[in-house]
Amino acid sequence: MPGGEPCPGENTMPSSRAPGFYNWPLEDRLAWVVDWANLTEEETSILRGEAGLPLEQADRMIENVVGRYPLPLGIALNFRVNGRDVLVPMAIEEPSVVAGASFAAKLARADGGFRAEATPPEMIGQIQVLDLDDLEAARAAVLAAKERILARADEVDPVIRRLGGGARDLEVRALPETPAGPMLVVHLIYDCRDAMGANAVNTACEALAPLIEEITGGRVGLRILSNLAERRLARAECTIPADALAFDDFPGERVVQGVVEAWAFAAADPYRAATHNKGILNGVDAVAIATGQDWRAIEAGAHAYAARSGRYTSLSTWSRDEKGNLVGRLEMPMAVGTVGGATRSHPTARVALKILGVQTARELAEVMVAVGLAQNLAALRALATEGIQKGHMALHARQVAIAAGAQGDEIEQVARQMVAEGVVRLDRAEEIIREQRSKGNKGAGE
Ligand code: MEV
Repeated sequence: MPGGEPCPGENTMPSSRAPGFYNWPLEDRLAWVVDWANLTEEETSILRGEAGLPLEQADRMIENVVGRYPLPLGIALNFRVNGRDVLVPMAIEEPSVVAGASFAAKLARADGGFRAEATPPEMIGQIQVLDLDDLEAARAAVLAAKERILARADEVDPVIRRLGGGARDLEVRALPETPAGPMLVVHLIYDCRDAMGANAVNTACEALAPLIEEITGGRVGLRILSNLAERRLARAECTIPADALAFDDFPGERVVQGVVEAWAFAAADPYRAATHNKGILNGVDAVAIATGQDWRAIEAGAHAYAARSGRYTSLSTWSRDEKGNLVGRLEMPMAVGTVGGATRSHPTARVALKILGVQTARELAEVMVAVGLAQNLAALRALATEGIQKGHMALHARQVAIAAGAQGDEIEQVARQMVAEGVVRLDRAEEIIREQRSKGNKGAGE
């Protein structure tokens, strides 16, 4: 089996570098990851798909179950986050995402990898209060009873309390003009520790409803978590030397300038920002899916946060520092957990978390935001230079070949021919398959 490359000066720390990994036979790749993350035989067979989510368990997770839906699980290499090398499991159907993240993470290693941090895991629960004659008086009454309300919220989940989490604060917002008339919104700020927290927050909000009605004299409507998790943020930063960005006919300075200009486009234009942020979420979602997170919550939070100024914009920033290096930063809400939900109950999510080696939701958030920044860099670098299609086509062509019915060795042959012709389309793939098969048949008959 090909060996991984040790990190210079860091022989004791396992390295996330494995040059040529994509060319290794699948079994060698798996064996390397098994060794790296010390996976058991059972965990290995879960990755192989031989074990995994049992149908009976799936049947208990959602309604009307008739089967399972597997996705490819790839490993993004080269990541170093806060000085620690990590292998990043990514579950995604889109080609180029895992390769893009690995490539950008390699560039970031030149300056020590990604620096990342996360705020305390505070989520916001909303309680809607209607039928109030005096919003200001109701607001004052809620704030005056803050300690009593927080104490009631803390009775709901003694486990989170014991772990150091629980109710932290209250905010009260008046919405004097809505299509349904004036209303008050009470925000419960709740520290969810290592849980994503939707269940804990929703339970606490529901438990508070009678008390809020008593205090305000109003009628409570909705009691639900907000996905605009603006108090649970993750941030990552990286610095890429211009030299490291040079390739083919593109000098490093030109690539730096191209990435900065690409970011400026997204900063100024919501049409571009939506795609730019989608690129970030390609990375974040893939880790979220691999580790059993509620990726819809992450998506909702990301886009709402991107529009918090009233104008939708880029979640990341890219600039050139005084030495000419490219500097990237990403800040976004990251409502993730390492306990609860599918994180522990889904066998593959459990293995993915073990591969990542993260102990807390905070560490997971830090890795995920770094992956988002890496993914963004990979996309902008390609878009600002040779274009996205060149790297994408070879992988995309394989999917088109499979969709057209190619099998075994045919897949590679059909894909290669389409790329060479510059026509990657289902109808062309079907034609090539027909041509090849009829040649094969003739050959067999001769
Ligand atoms: C494609 O899935 C993602 C990109 O469109 C992101 C971007 O344009 O920045 C390549």
